[in-house]
Amino acid sequence: MTELAQTIAPPSRSLPIVIFGAGSIVSDAHLPAYARAGFAVAGIYDPDQEKAAALAATHGTRAFASLAEAVAGGTGVVYDLAVPPAAIPGILRALPEGAVALIQKPMGSDLAAADQIIGILRARGIRAAVNFQLRFAPMALALKDAVAQGMLGEVVDFDAWLALDTPWHLWAFLADLPRVEILLHSIHYLDFVRDILGNPQGVHAKTMGHPSSTVSNTRTAMILDYGPRIRASLSINHNHAFGRKFQACEFRICGTKGAAYMKLGVNLDYPKGEPDELWLNTGGDWRQVPLTGNWFIEAFVGRITQVMRFAVGEDAELQGSAEDAWHTMALVEAAYESSAAPAHPIRKTPDA
Ligand SMILES: NC(=O)c1ccc[n+]([C@@H]2O[C@H](COP(=O)([O-])OP(=O)(O)OC[C@H]3O[C@@H](n4cnc5c(N)ncnc54)[C@H](O)[C@@H]3O)[C@@H](O)[C@H]2O)c1
Repeated sequence: MTELAQTIAPPSRSLPIVIFGAGSIVSDAHLPAYARAGFAVAGIYDPDQEKAAALAATHGTRAFASLAEAVAGGTGVVYDLAVPPAAIPGILRALPEGAVALIQKPMGSDLAAADQIIGILRARGIRAAVNFQLRFAPMALALKDAVAQGMLGEVVDFDAWLALDTPWHLWAFLADLPRVEILLHSIHYLDFVRDILGNPQGVHAKTMGHPSSTVSNTRTAMILDYGPRIRASLSINHNHAFGRKFQACEFRICGTKGAAYMKLGVNLDYPKGEPDELWLNTGGDWRQVPLTGNWFIEAFVGRITQVMRFAVGEDAELQGSAEDAWHTMALVEAAYESSAAPAHPIRKTPDA
């Protein structure tokens, strides 16, 4: 099989990274990914200074004592925001004009917050990407390379099927949020579909909770309208608590000449996870593509590497920029609006 690209080429030089937030995603994914990429971390800022100091100490970097100290590196560093959505605008306002930044998803708690973030970025000339890193997972880069090489023909069908038993109780902060499933989880898949197929024209969605839990929404069905040639649908059930046998976390992407199957392993047997898989059928039998790594943490390596290539001038375009990510937020907003609206009515009696 043709060699498929699964990584972003490292830049010939790099800038130090300043991290905001000393939470779980920083310790579990950002710091290990930056070490893997060989990028230096200049320091970590978190208003919980003890937490920042403890994390910095275990990763051989320093904790900044204040926001002002954290931004003292000017435009000579890359700023990495991994904080709750409500904290993003305040940090962006404190960044030097013209800085390069990477912002953790979601890009605010709703579309109004995403509008506000875009306003700050434009006013301050900050060039930011959003950390929708699934686009950079080895299986995703390989799939996009296969599509770019025409191996699938014209992509005309996308299906996401998730039947998982997600332990939402691990994230105490989402217990009272009105938006959970689409805003915090399926948002990765919506961003991925946009990366493959562009912006849909509209969305039909229904999202809901489950009798076993008080989390606001944990199950979603969505149809993305790409016009008459492309069918795109997502079926997502985080309450499939009936054993591993029939659980699933997979995408089927079909073209006019071939098809791809992706297994997103991290969500299965969570938090242990299983390896990702990519299979292609471009005529004849299905063939498995040997992957160089998984969504966690290789996608975080790819995401920061592309930001770094842009920051040092080796890539002209910042992929998955905030301006692009805004469209993922707009899709999420439309999905919640669609879910709140009544479905198309069905006649109840014969017209006879
Ligand atoms: N891309 C992904 O796959 C992924 C996965 C998990 C979390 N996330 C996102 O990353 C963000 C952080 O998640 P987490 O699980 O690490 O949360 P967390 O609660 O473990 O950590 C967040 C940290 O941010 C700190 N903080 C708050 N305000 C701050 C400020 N103004 N400056 C600096 N630090 C500040 C808090 O003190 C806390 O330590 C969330 O927005 C979440 O949605 C993304």
